[in-house]
Amino acid sequence: MAGPSLADVRAAERRLRGRLHRTPVLTCRGMDRLAGRRLLFKCELFQRTGSFKIRGALNAVRSLVEDSERAGRDLPRAVVTHSSGNHGQALACAAQAEGIPAHIVVPHTASRCKQDAIRSYGATLVPCEPSDTSRAGTAAHVVQRTGGILVHPNQDPAVIAGQGTIALEVLEQAPEVNAVVVPVGGGGMIAGIAVAIKALRPDVKVFAAEPRNADDCYQSKVRGELTPNLHPPDTIADAVKTSIGPNTWPIIRDLVDDVLTVSEEEIKRATRLVWERMKLLIEPTAGVGVAAVLSEQFQAVPRDVENVCIVLCGGNVDLSSLTWLTDLPGKAE
Ligand SMILES: Cc1ncc(COP(=O)(O)O)c(C=O)c1O
Repeated sequence: MAGPSLADVRAAERRLRGRLHRTPVLTCRGMDRLAGRRLLFKCELFQRTGSFKIRGALNAVRSLVEDSERAGRDLPRAVVTHSSGNHGQALACAAQAEGIPAHIVVPHTASRCKQDAIRSYGATLVPCEPSDTSRAGTAAHVVQRTGGILVHPNQDPAVIAGQGTIALEVLEQAPEVNAVVVPVGGGGMIAGIAVAIKALRPDVKVFAAEPRNADDCYQSKVRGELTPNLHPPDTIADAVKTSIGPNTWPIIRDLVDDVLTVSEEEIKRATRLVWERMKLLIEPTAGVGVAAVLSEQFQAVPRDVENVCIVLCGGNVDLSSLTWLTDLPGKAE
């Protein structure tokens, strides 16, 4: 399946116009001092449904609706997906807006707040085991049972194109940007962003950020072949436990400049730092990008990469899970 092009990302932008928030790009001098560069924070935690995921989900659902209208067919009977939570929430919201039933397969370990949000958008929740195989298998079964259409959380070209609209906004809001840092799970967000950035501004670097405990993207780049996580990863960054896939890998292989990996402690410290300094309630997955820019590894990035945009990809924090905060010794930095 061919990956999306810049034209697809632009079409997504038109399709989503007026339906989503244009999230702000914020700055923070204290954070700049810690990083030794100027940081630009693209605040997708303020996006509808609390993460960037609504961009891809709504683009996919609107495309299905437009296809049905053009062909004079009924709307799809249902949409189906599997998700650690944020894409499920986004697809449920997008489907509800179009009056299409949604069935969301969610690992039973997914955070309570994400499961509650999916239900609040009127979707049917289907529990599965916390592994890529169980997620995909259960979703395939639901597709068969309901006659619905699968909207894959990160491999669907319409989803990838929708996520790419983040890049179009960043280039308009902060044209001085020299690099973009993007947390990677299945790779839909970074693939969409990389397609748009490298077509419009090939001078801008695109870095993936990944928990060291879920480093399939890093391993794939090192080996030059798709290398999924062997076991379900153990990381606080629950939204990036999934592995990159056949549609996102070629884009990542060809267009992503480097992959930065960070430890669990770095993710926790970075997340806490953003809460304390910026007063932004990001989820730990968004802390992965911040941790990457504050890491020793990032010091090796040339100094002329001065203005660095970090995508604060989501803010769906399970506040009842914050026991890890009290385990951290000392201060945030
Ligand atoms: C908040 C957040 N950040 C990052 C990601 C990773 O996105 P992708 O799977 O497109 O790489 C996800 C995916 O669920 C997410 O919910």
